[in-house]
Amino acid sequence: MSKKTVTTILEKKKGGQKITMLTAYDYPLGCLVDAAGVDIVLVGDSLANVVLGLESTREIGMPEMLHHTKAVRRAVKDALLVADMPYGSFHKSTEEAVANARRFVDEAGAEAVKMEWFDGCLEAVAAIVQAGIPVMAHVGLTPQTAENFKVQGKDAASAQAILKQTQELEKCGCFSIVLECIPAALAAKITAATKMATIGIGAGAECDGQVLVTPDLLGLFDRFRPKFAKQYVHLSEPILAALKDFVREVEARDFPTEKHSFHMPKEDREKLESL
Ligand code: KIV
Repeated sequence: MSKKTVTTILEKKKGGQKITMLTAYDYPLGCLVDAAGVDIVLVGDSLANVVLGLESTREIGMPEMLHHTKAVRRAVKDALLVADMPYGSFHKSTEEAVANARRFVDEAGAEAVKMEWFDGCLEAVAAIVQAGIPVMAHVGLTPQTAENFKVQGKDAASAQAILKQTQELEKCGCFSIVLECIPAALAAKITAATKMATIGIGAGAECDGQVLVTPDLLGLFDRFRPKFAKQYVHLSEPILAALKDFVREVEARDFPTEKHSFHMPKEDREKLESL
């Protein structure tokens, strides 16, 4: 497989080929999603919910996101690596936004950053693009600032507002945009109208690409399951079974066996015994 770049992603859109994106938060999952051949690996701030057990993505910041991006960087060889800018990291000042985006690239090895829409984000988005850091935007349901976690843009006025946001983000120079939880017809209209690569999650089949939160896809996160999150396997079950086997075998003295133990030469063992 070959290294995917921003250019690869945009060429896929132009050629009408679907783009795939999955999240990863650590080295083992990073290796697996990269080996699966995804185009983009996102270190999403869903880290807060699906890995750290927190209620809201607003509860994590730069230290957590940098730490996990570095781990995924060690794993990902072919996919484009995108890091999510956490809540608060680009909301206070443009200077701080650019400095934080640079940290993802320089310290953690990300090749692009993702930024969720909020009213007033455009200056920071444009400044980060101008600093030479590719930006993937995110509109629709934006959990960092959402007032409700429902489908967005269902009426004509709110759909128009989302469409306008995408136009402004394109003008800022974003190369791609996540469309989360919006009607399929709105996502199709945005996809047809923009040069940015649209990546949908709960946004229908007409987007240029699709993303899922990997623990949802793998059945590793059962606290809640949104309608759009297709579960391809329920890994929690075989994992729990294996963990229970370990507990049972240790308690029954069936593990470890000879096969899992180390031995020393006979004369050294005898000396040890005589001590
Ligand atoms: O944080 C995340 O995992 C995301 C995806 C849902 C796109 O933003």
